[in-house]
Amino acid sequence: MAHLVAHLEVNDVSKAYDQGRGQSVQALSNVSLQLGRGEFVSLVGPSGCGKTTLFDIIAGLTMPDRGQVLIDGIDRTGETGYVSYMPQEDLLLPWRTTLQNVMLAPELRGGDLTESRQEVMKLIDLFGLSGFEDSYPFELSGGMRQRVALLRTVMCKNDIMLLDEPFGALDAITRRDMQVWLRSVWEQLRITVLFVTHDVEEAVYLSDRVYVMSGRPGRIVHECVIPLESSRPRTITSSPEFIALRSQVMDALDSGT
Ligand SMILES: Nc1ncnc2c1ncn2[C@@H]1O[C@H](COP(=O)(O)OP(=O)(O)OP(=O)(O)O)[C@@H](O)[C@H]1O
Ligand SMILES: [Mg+2]
Repeated sequence: MAHLVAHLEVNDVSKAYDQGRGQSVQALSNVSLQLGRGEFVSLVGPSGCGKTTLFDIIAGLTMPDRGQVLIDGIDRTGETGYVSYMPQEDLLLPWRTTLQNVMLAPELRGGDLTESRQEVMKLIDLFGLSGFEDSYPFELSGGMRQRVALLRTVMCKNDIMLLDEPFGALDAITRRDMQVWLRSVWEQLRITVLFVTHDVEEAVYLSDRVYVMSGRPGRIVHECVIPLESSRPRTITSSPEFIALRSQVMDALDSGT
């Protein structure tokens, strides 16, 4: 890691939910992780292991029972506004156009909207949305809707981004296109990304490192560094190195469930 202080650090976080009738479910158990500035890190784990819960905690929307969230070394546990969060369900407002959806964050923040609008217009091409600025979500394809949601997340203007299964609902071909595209966007914007996915191949393709979580209560059971050539395109699926890394992550997933 290039910096002594991690850009984002999760330190020994545990969380149980009260489910009523005296029942509780332990969602996370002693989860710790670190991201360096500009790193792309994925989190893979079985359904229900607490990935979204962890994101809610990092975003300050849910309090952990124990542990801390540190941003640049400062304890920000339970505080919002330090990360840009794209939730698992894409929440585009159906009555707002592409541009209006993307401008939501700058509008809520207040301040100079002209400047934000200029920035959006510069990014709209990179996000493959030229010509669709005034379209409504129902007029866009699934992949385009996800790019609008991603652009809106980028416009939240935090240099840490949490992406919760952004491509989960897309077909395989669109998904592959979006992976290649996201990698190139990340190379240009150089933000710190924590990315949740069920898809091991996607995680290995996109990431500098992959954390593997166990079944509930979610713990980190493995950390895999992806030392693949950083110049793109990475050879997907075919190279022996890629296959070995994918197996390593899959084995860790299997042993953790
Ligand atoms: N608000 C809540 N109240 C009560 N229990 C909750 C709440 N949110 C999550 N849980 C429980 O916590 C556990 C972890 O859920 P979470 O949504 O974090 O998992 P996940 O890893 O994101 O799953 P998926 O991969 O299916 O999205 C589950 O057992 C879920 O039922
Ligand atoms: Mg989830």
